[in-house]
Amino acid sequence: MEIINLPPYAPTLMESTRAIGYSVEAAIADIIDNSLTARATKIDIDFFPIGDEYIAIIDNGIGMTSDEITNAMQYGSKNPNEVRDLNDLGRYGLGLKTASLSQCRKLSVVSVCQGQISGRQWDLDYIQKVREWSLLVLDSEDMDQLPCIEKIKPLENGTLIIWQQLDKLSVGEIDFAASLGTKMDIVRDHLSLVFHRYLNGEPGLKKVEMRINERPVIAADPFLAAKSAQIMDAEIINLRGDQVIVKPYILPHISKISEAEIKALGGKDGLRRQQGFYVYRNKRLLVWGTWFRLMRQGDLSKLARVQVDIPNSLDDLWTLDIKKSTAVPPEEVRRNLSNIIKKIGESSKRTWTFRGKKEMDDSKYHLWNRIKTRDGGILYEINREHLMVDELAKKYPEIKSKINNLLCQIEGTIPLNQLYVDMNNDEKISNEVSIDEAKILELIKSLLDDCESSNTKIAMLDNLRITEPFCEYLDLIDQAIENGELI
Ligand SMILES: Nc1ncnc2c1ncn2[C@@H]1O[C@H](COP(=O)(O)OP(=O)(O)O)[C@@H](O)[C@H]1O
Ligand SMILES: [Mg+2]
Repeated sequence: MEIINLPPYAPTLMESTRAIGYSVEAAIADIIDNSLTARATKIDIDFFPIGDEYIAIIDNGIGMTSDEITNAMQYGSKNPNEVRDLNDLGRYGLGLKTASLSQCRKLSVVSVCQGQISGRQWDLDYIQKVREWSLLVLDSEDMDQLPCIEKIKPLENGTLIIWQQLDKLSVGEIDFAASLGTKMDIVRDHLSLVFHRYLNGEPGLKKVEMRINERPVIAADPFLAAKSAQIMDAEIINLRGDQVIVKPYILPHISKISEAEIKALGGKDGLRRQQGFYVYRNKRLLVWGTWFRLMRQGDLSKLARVQVDIPNSLDDLWTLDIKKSTAVPPEEVRRNLSNIIKKIGESSKRTWTFRGKKEMDDSKYHLWNRIKTRDGGILYEINREHLMVDELAKKYPEIKSKINNLLCQIEGTIPLNQLYVDMNNDEKISNEVSIDEAKILELIKSLLDDCESSNTKIAMLDNLRITEPFCEYLDLIDQAIENGELI
């Protein structure tokens, strides 16, 4: 049998891989993956939109020797089936080339390894001319012409990636400088989220500093871990001797989160859209905001977010695309996840309807009662046995029926539809804010004023302890009794 060696035709293949569909933020994240795999702890992204525009990524990782950098520039530089280091964020041996050339026509890589500097360049215009896989080897004069070169030269180890001729980024833009600025803001948000665990540092993961044009990138934790409840212990799914770790969180109710935190969690709209699994490969966020069709993205689960950690040794079980933007879990994991989902749904519903739950709590007197009616409906009713209602009726028996009429009117005209719309739109409803302590004391004092003996006062105080809203201020009541303010 005869064999023909048939390498791809360079100009066509290189041009066509530009269309894999990277966004600029996904492309930069892919370059940063390489820096992190090279154990970098400082990564600078510098961009300059005017004249000879460029984007540069500089890291202080282990760097590459002259031979290594040649290998790195080859399309398919590592076999995807080769076993990778545990911390390796790469996969197909393509990212450096495809991510870069999806945004620019000229990719230069300069690396320093133990003080030795070397540089290579793919220039698409040159490839079109020579019609070969001709990699340019940069000499020191060539390298001196490159932007940001002064940042890499003093390092013992590190790598500088430069994108020039940003043709894809300028398509259709009238004001390129302004549009690049806006795109880099998106890049910043993307990096804050995707690498939040690296930016924050955690046990077993060294903290990494990233900056865009000198301004630090701040970690955005999608679980708001300090405030959220982890609703159950981490669940471990064993697969082929490797572990997938699943940690479900329920975010605090929206009225308990600050505006800045809401923004970090994806904005008001984002809260709903970004519920779901957050899948990490080697602590790097790969996909988020999806239930993998195991559950609908409903309003009641909007506070649920589930961290799923997978090691890269299970890459072949997951469907992972070149851009690392889609990952679908294997059947076995999906089955386990759907059990977890059931528990989460319940818990998220509870946070969402928290007040409903409190109203049902029978050990306390609530101002509002939630009652199931005989025809299966629900009635919200002002509790006529509540202290404040009862006291008023007792004190002014002559207007008892008027009071009752008023309460019936209030009950009958709750703006339910508008409330529902507002809650769904995550409007902050100010009725919910807690009453300040001075006001509570004032209310208590006015109730005690009507008590004739100290015995009735004591009875009243006992009653208050199990009555809304006073039952939420027990410390305050005790303190006031101790200070002699109440009896
Ligand atoms: N910043 C860097 N520091 C050190 N080595 C790098 C860096 N970027 C790329 N490399 C080397 O180039 C190789 C090819 O990178 P890439 O094309 O992204 O494929 P992959 O990451 O899938 O291996 C990497 O495996 C690594 O050896
Ligand atoms: Mg890579």
